[in-house]
Amino acid sequence: MKEKPYNKNLVIIIAAVAATGGLLFGFDTGVISGAIPFFQQDFQLSNSMVENITTAGLVGAVIGAMFTGRLSDIFGRKKTILAAAIIFVIGAAWSGWAPNPTLLIISRLFIGLAIGISSFSVPLYIAEISPTHIRGRLVSLFQLLITIGILVSYLSDLAFANNNNVESWRPMFYAGIVPGFILLIGMFFLPETPRWLMSKGREEESRRILKRIEEPSLIEESMKRMKDEVEKAKEKPNFREVFRPWLRKALIISVGIMFFQQFVGINTVIYYSPKIFMIAGFEGARAGIWGAVSVGIVNVLFTILSLFMIDKLGRRKLYFIGLIGIVISLFGLGLAFEFHSSLGEMGKWLAIGFVWIYIAFFAISLGPLGWLIISEIFPLRIRGIGSSIGSLSNWLFNGIVAFTFFKIVKLFTASGSGIITNEKIYDAATNSFSMQPVNNGNPAGAFWFYAVIGIIGIIWGYFYIPETKGIALEKIEEHWRLGGKPRELRK
Ligand code: BGC
Repeated sequence: MKEKPYNKNLVIIIAAVAATGGLLFGFDTGVISGAIPFFQQDFQLSNSMVENITTAGLVGAVIGAMFTGRLSDIFGRKKTILAAAIIFVIGAAWSGWAPNPTLLIISRLFIGLAIGISSFSVPLYIAEISPTHIRGRLVSLFQLLITIGILVSYLSDLAFANNNNVESWRPMFYAGIVPGFILLIGMFFLPETPRWLMSKGREEESRRILKRIEEPSLIEESMKRMKDEVEKAKEKPNFREVFRPWLRKALIISVGIMFFQQFVGINTVIYYSPKIFMIAGFEGARAGIWGAVSVGIVNVLFTILSLFMIDKLGRRKLYFIGLIGIVISLFGLGLAFEFHSSLGEMGKWLAIGFVWIYIAFFAISLGPLGWLIISEIFPLRIRGIGSSIGSLSNWLFNGIVAFTFFKIVKLFTASGSGIITNEKIYDAATNSFSMQPVNNGNPAGAFWFYAVIGIIGIIWGYFYIPETKGIALEKIEEHWRLGGKPRELRK
């Protein structure tokens, strides 16, 4: 094969195409919220059936993350992402077409597989193909595209939502075909990662790709490092290896960071923000969706900011700054709801203000850091399995938080403090919608509960968040082998 020259911008193009997987992740996470009212009416579904359809995607993601880690170690990162792209395209077409609720559930489960697969294989691919000094920034591109995907899905929901057409949910789902195709075609032209090729003994191919993306003066050093690492671990990748004592810290870090990323309640805001804003006093579903769009915009803007900070300030600093901001805004949000009735008009603006601050701090810290760190801390040979465990934990915790939010709200609502809103409710018996008062409980206690988890996260992070900024992936492995503590990781 003909050798292609070093091109400084190539790696950015590569990362950007791969990160389209993040766009799909975000799009397919967000799209359901706008589609629900329409397919509920179209198929005349009960709330529990709606819950099943929503959860199907999450279940698919858990399965996708669980079973494909090993495949990406065996068949390579590129083929794994290609497989996800194909599933995204078929899944989007299938969900848009679904003629009945059962097929809709199966199609959401199917597309969930692709979300689960891409959520670990894309960051992994990018981490392995990036030069060390900008690795953080390039992996964070993935998070940026997740946030853009969420925003695009809110906007496209808004564009397709037509109150006179119960089938408006179909184009919302069909829209996902477009980014699916972009990922499929783009990925087809991208190379495999030099690190994975090296792990398969394909040294020449590995060098050829490295030459196109790494500065010429660093190539030999990188080759040597990768080779050493492969030498150190010759046997076949094995699931049990992740649980070996010397890797226990890496395992705790990846499950732990995903625990805190999800248990500070991020997706209660992403999935339920229209509802939260309605409870806060913004009237009507449309105002609620606009509130969600504003959250989506803040999320994107601050994720862009994080791209510039992550390789400069480093992972630990961002983690602490972010979590402190998250905890303070959650307390504030709780106060806005607790004193809802005495605050009057100001209450709802305080609520939306604290949600914006909360999202901003999440976007510069736990959002990108979760995905970045799980792609960095495992040794090459089991990096696929390792980061899929991180990703799997993410989806499990995500599912638990989403499923329990309203129950936790109820649990922590003092009697008489529930907030009443007027909502359009579907009645299966009469097959019609009518406006009825709904007691939503008061989310103050739930937000304080998440704040307390955030405080525990700060203490946990002091011991467990490693500073991986500017450190070669192979060095990180060496640190674990020598029995080093996460917070002592240094260049
Ligand atoms: C999280 C998602 C969340 C998104 C919000 C991601 O890092 O894993 O659960 O919806 O950030 O931007």
